[in-house]
Amino acid sequence: MKNKIQKYNNQTPYFILHKNKLLHNLVKLQELEKKANIHILHTLKSFNEPSITPMIAQNLSGMSIASPNELQMAQEAKAKYIHLYAPAFEKEQLKKMIKQVDSISFNSLSQWNAFKALHGSKGLRINPKLQLNIPSHCNPNLKSSRLGVDGLEFLASFRQNKEKFNDLEGLHFHALFQGSAKELIILLEHITTQFKEVLPKLKWLNLGGGHNFTTIDYEIDTLVKYLVNFQKLYPNLKLYFEPGESVTKGCGEFVATVLDIVNIEGKKLVILDTSIETHLLDVAIVKLKLKVKNTQDEVTPYGYQLTGNSCLQGDIMGDYYFTQPLHLGDKIVFEDMMAYSMVKMTKFNGMQKAKFYLA
Ligand SMILES: Cc1ncc(COP(=O)(O)O)c(C=O)c1O
Repeated sequence: MKNKIQKYNNQTPYFILHKNKLLHNLVKLQELEKKANIHILHTLKSFNEPSITPMIAQNLSGMSIASPNELQMAQEAKAKYIHLYAPAFEKEQLKKMIKQVDSISFNSLSQWNAFKALHGSKGLRINPKLQLNIPSHCNPNLKSSRLGVDGLEFLASFRQNKEKFNDLEGLHFHALFQGSAKELIILLEHITTQFKEVLPKLKWLNLGGGHNFTTIDYEIDTLVKYLVNFQKLYPNLKLYFEPGESVTKGCGEFVATVLDIVNIEGKKLVILDTSIETHLLDVAIVKLKLKVKNTQDEVTPYGYQLTGNSCLQGDIMGDYYFTQPLHLGDKIVFEDMMAYSMVKMTKFNGMQKAKFYLA
C-alpha cells in the first residue's frame, strides 16, 4: 500500500509530478547513456517517492545511495546497480550493506585503511579542489571541505605504499553543481592530468552529480564526443554518473493556498498554508529564490511577500511581483520543486506533510 498514489483532490499543500515530463528526462538520460557508453545512477537523496522510484529504476542504470534506509528503497525500486557512498561508515552497518551493493566509495584515507579488507568493488572519493563558480554551501571543492580526500594527499600515500591500494577499483569525484559540459570536461582534464599513474589500474570512475544533463542548453554532443575519446584512452574504466536534480528537473510543482493577506508597514504580506521548515527546507539551506508561476522580475502593482504559517519570523519565501492581484483562497504554484524538497519534509509546528500527486 506504501506505493499507492493519492487521488488528486486539489487540497493544498501538495507536490505534483508530471509523468510525461519525468519520462522525457529519463529518455534524454538513457540516450546519453547509450551515445556516450556511460552509466547513470539516480541519486536517491534528491528524490525518493516510492510510487515513482521503480519507474526511474527501470529506465536508468541504477541508483546511488548513502544509508541502510536508502539501500532498502533502492532494492524495493529494483535498482539494477547500486553504488554506496557516505562521509563515514559505522563498521557493523557497513559490513551488512557492502554485501548488498555493487560498488562503494570511501571518503577518507582513514576509512579506506579501516575497511579496505572488506570484500567489494571499492573506491575512494577525491576532492579535486577545482576553482569553479559554485555557491559555497554546496561547493564540495572547498579547500576546507570534509568531502573527499585531497588529491595530492592521496597521490603521496599511493606513491609511498602502492600495495595499500591493491584493492582500489575506482575513484569518485562529486565536484560540480548544476554544471555544464564545459565544467565536466574541466574535471575530466584535471583527473587525467593529476591521476595519470592511477587510472590504468582502476575499473571505474564515478563523476558524481551536479550535471545539468536535462536542461535544454546542455551541450550533449560536446560531452559525448569528449567521453568517446576518453574511453579510447581508458578502455578499462566504466564511467558512472550520479545526478539527482537533473533526473526530476522541471517535472513538478509545489502548490499552496493563500490563507491571509496582511498590510504591514506598507507591504502586502501573504500567509500561505505551508512553511519553509515543513515543506521547503531546501529554500532555507540553499537560500534560493523560488520560481513562482504568474510572477515576473519587473515591478508590477501587485507586489507581495510570500510567507509561511509557522511561528518563525524568518519563514519568508521572498518578494514577488505577480501579474494579477492575489485574493484569499488563490493557489500559489512554486515551479520545479521535485528535487531536495519532498525528501526533506518535516512536521514542525504540527503541520501535515504535503501530499503527493501524479499528473
Ligand atoms: C556524492 C553525491 N553524489 C551525487 C549528488 C547529486 O547531486 P545533484 O543533485 O546536484 O546532481 C550529491 C548531492 O549532494 C552528492 O553529494
